[in-house]
Amino acid sequence: MKALVLSGGTGSRLRPITYTSAKQLVPIANKPILFYGLESIAKCGIKDVGVVVGETAKEVMETLEDGSRFGVNISYIRQDRPAGLAHAVFVSREFLGDDDFVMYLGDNFILGGIEEFVEAFRVAQGGVNAQILLAKVEDPHRFGVAVLGEDGSVVRLVEKPEVPPSDLALVGVYIFDKHIHEAVRSIEPSRRGELEITDAIDRLIEDGLSVSSSIVEGYWKDLGEPEALLEGNRLALDLLEGEVCGRVDSSSHIQGRVVIEHGAEVVASVIRGPVVIGAGARIEGSFIGPYTSIGPHCTVRSSEIDYSIVLKDAVVEYVGRLEGSIVGKAAKVTRRESRPSALRLVIGDNSQVELS
Ligand code: TTP
Repeated sequence: MKALVLSGGTGSRLRPITYTSAKQLVPIANKPILFYGLESIAKCGIKDVGVVVGETAKEVMETLEDGSRFGVNISYIRQDRPAGLAHAVFVSREFLGDDDFVMYLGDNFILGGIEEFVEAFRVAQGGVNAQILLAKVEDPHRFGVAVLGEDGSVVRLVEKPEVPPSDLALVGVYIFDKHIHEAVRSIEPSRRGELEITDAIDRLIEDGLSVSSSIVEGYWKDLGEPEALLEGNRLALDLLEGEVCGRVDSSSHIQGRVVIEHGAEVVASVIRGPVVIGAGARIEGSFIGPYTSIGPHCTVRSSEIDYSIVLKDAVVEYVGRLEGSIVGKAAKVTRRESRPSALRLVIGDNSQVELS
């Protein structure tokens, strides 16, 4: 079995962060989202991994390299435009050959991993041609939605339905055998101009092939939006064991599970975990509260931050309290004491600023 990891796409819902970084490489608990996916693929014993890359190919390739840090061999597959999930399968035909494969959307975070899901397909020993992963959601109209038969087999899939036929949304992990290639070749682009994987799976069902489903037990989230990213960060931080490698001065207090990476310095501050403070960061006269990730080489001075993600090299100084915030790489949030006492903003396109 091979794996196909989708790491192209546009990432428009996570702008401005995705203007300068691939969505799949945005860190949660200071580790790129994509690493969690590759680690769970490796845990299934899968060695050959194709990574589909688009505009952000260079950054993705430089970060993952040949995959040896995960114990897998990565081949990169170029997708010239984000023309849909089924299009990503189409351009990967040569890499995939006639092998079974797991398709994993690179911005998905699945807390319990995918081993059970992959095992269920292996146990079926060719009796199943495709297997999808489903989760109960409150807002199914935002997802691909499945209708199941009485025996649990998949009867129909509908992409982002106005009137959802069920509350079972497609999670971004699928397993296919070689029949998917014929299905992908036979479908037309949807109204939004993409080759939809849901249409290809529907084609399998119409052709009388067997499509089974599993319901995801643990937590799952597609981290494509700011709220989801913060939530993913919270869950990833919950997995951490505390470890202090950096320097903490005697007037600081560390409470709960806190990781302070090498070369980080905490001075006259309170850090209340779960929190990670990146290598070389400096926290001074500040409070860092639960579910916050501070990236490498950040500076936080005389400020309070909780339930937030601060990316590498950012500076947060004298700002009172930040909550539920994402601060981009090398961004600066500070206070000015001189008159006039007005807000001065230099913010990127598609940024959001909420003043209390
Ligand atoms: P999406 O989140 O559906 O799409 P997107 O990344 O373009 O994001 P947005 O809607 O905010 O613009 O994609 C799911 C995953 O699949 C994500 O990791 C990107 C990847 N992908 C590809 O690799 N190729 C594609 O053609 C598409 C549509 C997505």
